[in-house]
Amino acid sequence: MRAAGPGARPGLALLLLLAGAGVLAAASPPALPLFNVSLDAAPELRWLPVLRHFDLDFLRTTMAHILGNKVPKWVHALIGKVVEELARFLPQPFTDEIRGMCEVLNYSLADCLLLNLVYESTAFCTSIVAQDSRGHIYHGRNLDYPFGNFLRKLTVNVQFLKNGQVAFTGTTFIGYVGLWTGQSPYKFTVSGDERDKGWWWENVIAALFQRHYPISWLIRTTLSESENFEAAVYKLAKTPLIADVYYIVGGTSPREGVVITRNRNGPADIWPLDPLNGAWFRVETNYDHWKPAPKKDDRRTPAIKALNATGQANLSLETLFQVLSVFPVCNKPDPIEVKGCLLP
Ligand SMILES: *[C@@H]1O[C@H](CO)[C@@H](O)[C@H](O)[C@H]1NC(C)=O
Ligand SMILES: *[C@@H]1O[C@H](CO)[C@@H](O)[C@H](O)[C@H]1NC(C)=O
Ligand SMILES: *[C@@H]1O[C@H](CO)[C@@H](O)[C@H](O)[C@H]1NC(C)=O
Ligand SMILES: *[C@@H]1O[C@H](CO)[C@@H](O)[C@H](O)[C@H]1NC(C)=O
Repeated sequence: MRAAGPGARPGLALLLLLAGAGVLAAASPPALPLFNVSLDAAPELRWLPVLRHFDLDFLRTTMAHILGNKVPKWVHALIGKVVEELARFLPQPFTDEIRGMCEVLNYSLADCLLLNLVYESTAFCTSIVAQDSRGHIYHGRNLDYPFGNFLRKLTVNVQFLKNGQVAFTGTTFIGYVGLWTGQSPYKFTVSGDERDKGWWWENVIAALFQRHYPISWLIRTTLSESENFEAAVYKLAKTPLIADVYYIVGGTSPREGVVITRNRNGPADIWPLDPLNGAWFRVETNYDHWKPAPKKDDRRTPAIKALNATGQANLSLETLFQVLSVFPVCNKPDPIEVKGCLLP
């Protein structure tokens, strides 16, 4: 854990990843609690020890707030009718994990699945992958809390255990089984940034029935299954998804850093680090890197300026944290309302 930087604010979390170090360095005001989730336990049971640490009434209130405000009535009605059919072909272990938590919360499976999908449509700000002069790879991201400050109290770091050992780690909200940020120690790191294409629910429902993967579930599956950076990039680039996204991946060896721009069916673009030609970092916000960032939400240029000012030789977790803390970050209380992120 690291101290909050000068620009850190409530409602904003900064996460720094280092695959080589084998630790998740996370910083946020206040520091996130850390839990173990054992993949050796049955999917329905494995989250229950974590749930015990939270006020279930607060959790239910938060869920009701999000469902009431963010899920269109027709979506709610449709999913309610087809949930059992959908659950049969949604990827495991996610569906059973959701089912298990849902029972404890006394919520319907349809509601819990929808909650897990509604987070897929929230804005998740800026990711940076970079290489220092000695060839070490750094990966950092900041993220805005969707749905005001409700979710801030529900944000946790999780260590997923296999055979009692930490297999991979990530940051998520209680009740949410996917990961937007995670790390497979000594192998690779992944973060996801929203790529908004509008008409979200229509697309998602169509794609779910084509058996496409939810975005954050693919991050977790990749952390769990991929043996190295290259295998992770391949899986994240190729697996059909329910929506577009940017995946940012860092490895453990020089030049192992990439931004993958995803369409639902496959990669739109692969943008690797190219340190031999001066490209020692890649910055991804919520816009295609080959197009200019929109003037009303240009977080990209200030990030690049700050990295240029830092210099490759001075890159470290601390300086990356400062870059992610100080440049204009999105800090809108309810970003789902505003497509993308806004300057403060
Ligand atoms: C669970 O929800 C049902 C239906 O909403 C309600 O009738 C029941 O009392 C609830 N049970 C608990 C233990 O909260
Ligand atoms: C999590 O599991 C690891 C590995 O078994 C163990 O060393 C650690 O103490 C556990 N941490 C918590 C918070 O339970
Ligand atoms: C960052 O540095 C590169 C290489 O010197 C330069 O081409 C680029 O214009 C700089 N960008 C900003 C935003 O300062
Ligand atoms: C960068 O590193 C150099 C050499 O270690 C040092 O002299 C300089 O002050 C550092 N610059 C910043 C901005 O930290």
